[in-house]
Amino acid sequence: NKESNEDILVSNVDDGVLTITLNRPKAYNALRNNALQEIVNELEKVENDNNIKVVIITGGKKVFAAGADIKEMAQLNVVGLLNDIRPVFWRKIAAFPKPIIAVVNGFALGAGCELMMHCDIVIVGDNAQIGQPEINLGIMPGLGGTQRLLRTVGKSMAMQMVLSGEFINAEQAKNFGLVSEVTLPELSYSRALTLAKVIAQKSPIAVRIAKESLLNAYETTLEAGLASERKAFTLLAATEDRAEGIAAFMEKRKPVFQGQ
Ligand code: HXC
Repeated sequence: NKESNEDILVSNVDDGVLTITLNRPKAYNALRNNALQEIVNELEKVENDNNIKVVIITGGKKVFAAGADIKEMAQLNVVGLLNDIRPVFWRKIAAFPKPIIAVVNGFALGAGCELMMHCDIVIVGDNAQIGQPEINLGIMPGLGGTQRLLRTVGKSMAMQMVLSGEFINAEQAKNFGLVSEVTLPELSYSRALTLAKVIAQKSPIAVRIAKESLLNAYETTLEAGLASERKAFTLLAATEDRAEGIAAFMEKRKPVFQGQ
């Protein structure tokens, strides 16, 4: 691992929350391989760090990410794409077990929209412009922009976005369930931080298993999903956090979860 990052800034000054800020403004935070590598390195560092409960990924107030780095992508022929390391990075982001909140202001395009969809909760500024414009380059989305998008916004809107390349705004994204809240751009990060701190107070085991169970809904039938949900729910009965949560309720006090 490198000593310092070139494409991202990392901060963990807030209790239990790690913030990763995409920081290559001159390229509208285009996600070159190095940026993905740096994100993955930071996630790997905190995966087993009990002090970090939630991760926020943002691009700052103006732009989230304008896509894969088109200049870098242009170098890859079909063999280059077959051997591309990028899918490995994306799988690692998708498999990160703690909650990730995306804070999206301005453009979230192509791989930027796909990164947003890898996150568990999305808060956007009202200046957000979200799209899958790959069709304009004679290509198509390759990192979930047909699969995760369709499962979230439904067929008609997914077709519209992917086939026309047109962007949708914050309000549309909210109406279609792609994002959960719209704020003023200058308030989106603080809203996400408040939410992150709320989640950071919960039992980390319950949060982890609940995230896993929710994501499992994408993968399975209702019957199998319900069966595995029930097993996960039952498993949590073995934790001290469950005993603490219930005891705190009975004693009318705030629970203190230890992650045990
Ligand atoms: C590399 C990019 C970039 C990108 C913007 N820039 N997007 N560089 N890759 N995806 C750079 C521009 O080259 C320019 O740098 C600077 O950022 C500002 O961009 P402008 O175009 O001058 O700004 P503006 O006129 O405001 O337009 C903003 C924009 C436009 C609408 C976001 O830049 C745009 O359409 N970008 C491409 C969006 C896109 O197609 N994304 C999907 C990428 S494909 P210079 O140095 O010239 O000033 C993808 C595929 C994933 O994500 C699938 C992989 C398998």
